[in-house]
Amino acid sequence: MEENERIPVHVSIIMDGNGRWAEERGQERVYGHAAGVESVRACTEAAVETGVKYLSLFAFSEENWNRPEHEVHTLMELMVKAMRDELPTMMKNGVRFLVLGNRARLSPELNAMIDDCEDRTAANGRLTLVIFLSYSGKWDILQAAKKLSDDIASHPERAEEFAAMGVDGFGKYLVTSGIPDPDLIVRTSGECRLSNYLLWQAAYSEFLFTDVLWPDFRKAEFRSALKEYAGRDRRYGRVK
Ligand code: FPP
Repeated sequence: MEENERIPVHVSIIMDGNGRWAEERGQERVYGHAAGVESVRACTEAAVETGVKYLSLFAFSEENWNRPEHEVHTLMELMVKAMRDELPTMMKNGVRFLVLGNRARLSPELNAMIDDCEDRTAANGRLTLVIFLSYSGKWDILQAAKKLSDDIASHPERAEEFAAMGVDGFGKYLVTSGIPDPDLIVRTSGECRLSNYLLWQAAYSEFLFTDVLWPDFRKAEFRSALKEYAGRDRRYGRVK
């Protein structure tokens, strides 16, 4: 097998353990989130360096809205700050930036900033960095089903096409339309669950659970995850 065939096209990370990392240092949880932004930067650089084409990060789930208001506010502020600070570097490194999730729940200011960042980076093609914000897998499947049912109601002339629709056709209604399913999903901090993330898209992903807390997950850890992936045998339900 060629070396580059072993590089996953799409790596997705469930960033977990910021709170514990801060508590271990006698600090407030938000201190851990700020340190986590450094890991976002490091992994984005490592993805560019290793030739990964899509890096997606689970930054905030629909369930995270139930966290204390102060923490939610700080996380949103960190997103704004990171977008503002990192835009020049993303332009320099050819990074296309996308935010996917229930954008209706985000503030108008944050949405405007995201739109601006997405527009400015739209033509970049070296790496696509996807931030999942206010996202959950069940929400995604439900919004896709609603869009499909609207289309069915508005286009009776396409009834046969809808009846014959397969999984790829349905996948186009998900917010991840156009983005390949993740080859590798990493979760940090020792938790071994999917937590309502990419439920549809993870059908054949390889999983890697590591005890490392997200603020400690830097370039070396990213490269080590790629190494582990390179040794996996992906069969997609077939016999080899
Ligand atoms: C999980 O740790 C982490 C989050 C819910 C937020 C991740 C956000 C960032 C790293 C900051 C900004 C992101 C970007 C994309 C710029 P936790 O709080 O659940 O940790 P715990 O399980 O130890 O409590």
